[in-house]
Parts: sequence; C-alpha cells; structure tokens
Amino acid sequence: MPSIPTPHDPRFLQGRVALVTGASRGIGRAIALRLAARGARVACVATEAGRAREVADLCAQHTEGSQAYGCDVADTAAVQALVEQVQKELGGLDLLVNNAGITRDQLLLRMTEEDFDRVIEVNLKGTWNFLKAASRPLMKVKGKVVNITSVVGLTGNAGQANYAASKAGVVGLTKSLAKELAGRGVCVNAIAPGFIATDMTAAIDEKAAEALKSTIPLGRIGAPEDIAAAVEFLAGPGGDYITGQTLVIDGGLSL
Ligand code: NAI
Repeated sequence: MPSIPTPHDPRFLQGRVALVTGASRGIGRAIALRLAARGARVACVATEAGRAREVADLCAQHTEGSQAYGCDVADTAAVQALVEQVQKELGGLDLLVNNAGITRDQLLLRMTEEDFDRVIEVNLKGTWNFLKAASRPLMKVKGKVVNITSVVGLTGNAGQANYAASKAGVVGLTKSLAKELAGRGVCVNAIAPGFIATDMTAAIDEKAAEALKSTIPLGRIGAPEDIAAAVEFLAGPGGDYITGQTLVIDGGLSL
C-alpha cells in the first residue's frame, strides 16, 4: 500500500479497497465496520451475499461503494471470480482480511473424516484461495494481508485437532507468503485471537465459559472490536514494517 498521509487522519484508508471474508457477523463484521470508518470501501464477503448485506449497508454509511458479496471461501474457482469482480466493481484491491472460519469440534476418536476435511477446506484452503487470487493485484499496489488464525493454532486444544491444524497451517502460510511477497512490498501478517464473544463461541455453555474466563489474566472475554483494532493498526502506517508475524490477542490467556 502506498504510504499513508498521517497516522492521525481518521480516514487514512480513504480511496483504498478492503476485502473481508466472513464479514456477516462476529469478528469479520467488526473488522469491516472499522475499516469502513477509516475510509476504505469494503467488500463484505459471506457464504451468501444476503447475509453480509446489513454489514455492507452499515459500511456504506461510512464509505460509499462498500458492497456485499457471496462466496464459499473453500471454492477455488468462485474465489478467483469474486476477487476479479470486487476489483472491477470497487476499483481495485489494497487489503485482504482472511477471517472466515468454522469449527467442528470433536475428540479425535469421534471426529469424522468429513469434519476434518471441511474445517481444513474452509479455514486453511479458503485462506490459500484468497491469497492465490489476490496476490497479483496486491503486488501492484504494495497491499496488505491479515489472516485470522487462533491461539489454538499455536497451543493446540483437545477436541479441536482439525481446527488447530487448520489454524497452525494459516501461521505457516502467513510466514511463507510474507517471505514470497516482501520483495513486492506486500506485508502479510496473522492475528491469533483467544476467546472472543461471537456466535462461534456462544455454543460453549455458561459454566465452561466462566471457567475459561477465570484463566484469562486480563479477566474478561475478548470483544470482536479488540481484534478489529489490531487489523486497523496493521492496515495503517503502523503496519508498514511488520510482516510474517502472528499477533496474539487473548488477554494473556496463552501466557
Ligand atoms: P462466526 O462463526 O461468528 O463468523 C464466521 C464467519 O465466517 C461468518 O460470517 C460466516 O458466514 C463465515 N463463513 C463460514 N464459513 C464460510 C465459508 N465456507 N465461506 C464464506 N464464509 C464463511 O465466527 P467468529 O468468532 O467471528 O470468527 C471469525 C474468525 O476468527 C474465524 O476464522 C475464527 O476461527 C477466528 N477465531 C475466533 C475466535 C473466537 O473466540 N470467536 C478465537 C480465535 C479465532
């Protein structure tokens, strides 16, 4: 991304285009809104465009031109077509946020092959699909990539072998692509959230959530905005000399 006017300019992403996957809710929603508030036109991607429309409309209140798109991130051809469509309709691509993700938790003995494959396809292959489709346009503008991984990808977690493997893969992808694209001025980083209050974690029963909360040094469950703030930082001038890193945002959980 070309250098940005001033770090204090509240619209420092004015004129830039950001693509956020899994933007219909949770962390992706918070990221999309934050980037739009900073002036980016945001392509809000969800499995179906209709699901991302509300977020895209809110983004458009900040930045005209933000739009909703539908695509299964695991579908390589659909992702390629989507990235081309976004460039045509929004006028380019400067920032890619690979946020879409799923869980299918189960202890290994009960985990099906389908549960393993689908989580890898969405979380890891989906990230690769977008990197593959977007790297050329990003090289043209010295753009940026932020991949959302998880602390579980760094620490492992019982019952999440598929998810942890997919997220560890995202860390490896991030480092490799950071090395491949650094010469073209593209910064590629990852963010590893801890326990964040979204639909994904809503399934955890109250007692287990309280127990988990008591192990978080900062004493609270994270909010989607905690992650969005870090994406904003990496997308801005503060991120210009950072690449290949995984920023853990977990209130100290993994310490
Ligand atoms: P969420 O379940 O609330 O939202 C997931 C989003 O991904 C939705 O917009 C959904 O439509 C989209 N999505 C799922 N499968 C898709 C597919 N095949 N194609 C296109 N879009 C798809 O999840 P949440 O909590 O907002 O998570 C966002 C990211 O953060 C995920 O990658 C997740 O693994 C990661 N994360 C979340 C944590 C948490 O505690 N909530 C902790 C660590 C990482």
